[in-house]
Amino acid sequence: MPVLELQGVSQEFGGLRALDSIDLQVEQNSIFGIIGPNGAGKTTLFNVITGIYPPTEGRLIFQDQPIAALSSHKVARLGIGRTFQNIRLFNRLSVIDNVKVAANWNRSAGLLASLLGLPSYSREQSQSQEKAEALIDMMGLYAKRMEYAQSLSYGEQRRLEIARALAAVPSLLLLDEPAAGMNSSEKLELMDLIWKIRDDMQLTILLVEHDMHLVMNICEQIAVLDYGRKIAEGDPDAIKRDPRVIQSYLGVER
Ligand SMILES: Nc1ncnc2c1ncn2[C@@H]1O[C@H](COP(=O)(O)OP(=O)(O)OP(=O)(O)O)[C@@H](O)[C@H]1O
Ligand SMILES: [Mg+2]
Repeated sequence: MPVLELQGVSQEFGGLRALDSIDLQVEQNSIFGIIGPNGAGKTTLFNVITGIYPPTEGRLIFQDQPIAALSSHKVARLGIGRTFQNIRLFNRLSVIDNVKVAANWNRSAGLLASLLGLPSYSREQSQSQEKAEALIDMMGLYAKRMEYAQSLSYGEQRRLEIARALAAVPSLLLLDEPAAGMNSSEKLELMDLIWKIRDDMQLTILLVEHDMHLVMNICEQIAVLDYGRKIAEGDPDAIKRDPRVIQSYLGVER
């Protein structure tokens, strides 16, 4: 059964059809890639799935529930987490605090309990500290946990974004160009991390990425967008051989 299904999803901005009748089925526990040239609609697809824009047309179903009309806050609470193509961190907070702030959005203890210093609050605080440390460790950032987010390298900031997204305990994780700005050894580490996240946390992963080595190695299924349309879908081998994909995106076959 698909964990996420899109039926005829379109998104218009003025006269521009950024997404044109997209159908998609993402199987539970899979790593699903979305590729395509600049401006193809990949980030727009993530924005529609995460409730940033309601789609102009079409249906979105997450775990059997229609989500097209829900706010981004509600979509996040249902278990869809994401990272952003343009990194969004709190630059003047430490690495650990960036993760704790993300986890605290889901916190059950109220502001009152925190103001009063009630035991439930301090218990939650220490749990959130432990959870944040574990996530940071998993992302290979433990040694940097007290540093300002802005002092991290680009690749480290991308991994911190993933830790932040995971702090909200999603069941579907959307990664928008997680390898952008990474060097080749960081990209290899990222591949292992994505596999580990999927396996250890039982997640489904939707991945937008321009690095074809990474995409072809890690994704089980790939959809190709071009001018808002889905022009191909299949496993990596089928996508590599698809003449339309080669023409519109992958370039001349070598
Ligand atoms: N909020 C918006 N208002 C108007 N136009 C938009 C908006 N968001 C995206 N677009 C347009 O929609 C099209 C798709 O953009 P999108 O950012 O989804 O592409 P993309 O596939 O993510 O590209 P890239 O690989 O460069 O990140 C582009 O023409 C873009 O200019
Ligand atoms: Mg984009």
